[in-house]
Amino acid sequence: MTRKDKVLAAMKVLGIETSCDETGVAVYDTEAGLLGHRVHSQIDLHAAYGGVVPELASRDHIRLLPVLVRQTLEAAGCSLQDVSAIAYTAGPGLAGALLVGASFAESLGVALDVPVLPIHHLEGHLLSPLLSVRPPSFPFVALLVSGGHTQLMSVSAVGDYVLLGETLDDAAGEAFDKTAKLMGLGYPGGPQLAALAETGVPGRFALPRPMLRSGDLDFSFSGLKTAVLNVVSRPDWSDTDTAALAADFQEAVVDVLCAKALGALKLSGLSQLVVAGGVGANRRLRERLDAAVSKVGAEVFYPEPALCTDNGAMIAFAGALRLVAGESGRNDASVRVRPRWPLAELQRPNREQDRLPGG
Ligand code: KG4
Ligand code: ZN
Repeated sequence: MTRKDKVLAAMKVLGIETSCDETGVAVYDTEAGLLGHRVHSQIDLHAAYGGVVPELASRDHIRLLPVLVRQTLEAAGCSLQDVSAIAYTAGPGLAGALLVGASFAESLGVALDVPVLPIHHLEGHLLSPLLSVRPPSFPFVALLVSGGHTQLMSVSAVGDYVLLGETLDDAAGEAFDKTAKLMGLGYPGGPQLAALAETGVPGRFALPRPMLRSGDLDFSFSGLKTAVLNVVSRPDWSDTDTAALAADFQEAVVDVLCAKALGALKLSGLSQLVVAGGVGANRRLRERLDAAVSKVGAEVFYPEPALCTDNGAMIAFAGALRLVAGESGRNDASVRVRPRWPLAELQRPNREQDRLPGG
């Protein structure tokens, strides 16, 4: 191991995630792994409004970020002086919420005189299965299924992402959330709809499988939501049918996600599939993907359950991988976020290059 490697091996990266309705903080040590992480969910705060209220989200991040940083450092057995670098989510996400994490991280970086790295939220998600006990290795296909995104990417290395297909309208998580809302379920809808689906038997409602045979790897979920709306608007609709409808909705989403993920493996010739993002927690999706992927002799990898939804660990980890691969970070107190930021624009870590998000 060279001297440079030794220095890098000892780095502790503080990760900060504030892109939406979860405040996440973590410390990742490039030698010892994840030392600690804390997530505070704002579900209770937004529940009364049936969805995330951006201004309330920002204020709650401001309130809790310093507390979580203190608690996480304590749990990790280190102090602020031990932090060698800071990684924060710079986008995509809610502008105000992102600005809270960005300003906090950038100012702390100046105060501690350590490099600061702006991280793409979806890069955090797609690299998070590498934190598992049984991690995949590059290259792999990533199925990113969150509340804001549904994408299939070919991943060759950190920062080397090629978009294979994406949703043309709603994201899979968004479809779960919106469908749950129109079925009268509470917030957050996705997990509640999934839980209800577990109690129902699919096969009663003929719902569409949008773009299943489109011949490409793109998705569309808004028509499926409309099909459910048509069912619940029928005069003979009964509340006692909700579990069966939830099961049919889930089955339709899972059918399409499985078929397209398999299509991506076939097209790319790769044999590892990584599933990341909140919808990746869906039990039925996992069951179906496990079966379908093993049938074609490939393997599927998921993040640890606690790291499926938004968290600081995946951001600290992505920052650590970038630092180790040669990215230098910066330390100039410039707070820049990018609420819309295509993942395929990312590049491999490069010391010479300024990788600031453009805004
Ligand atoms: O990745 P994530 O925590 O946040 C975003 O970056 O969007 O994903 C949240 C999304 C929400 O739409 C939520 O309803 C969905 O993931 N979700 C689920 C499940 N758990 C979370 N959807 C289906 N089944 C689940 N078990
Ligand atoms: Zn996310």
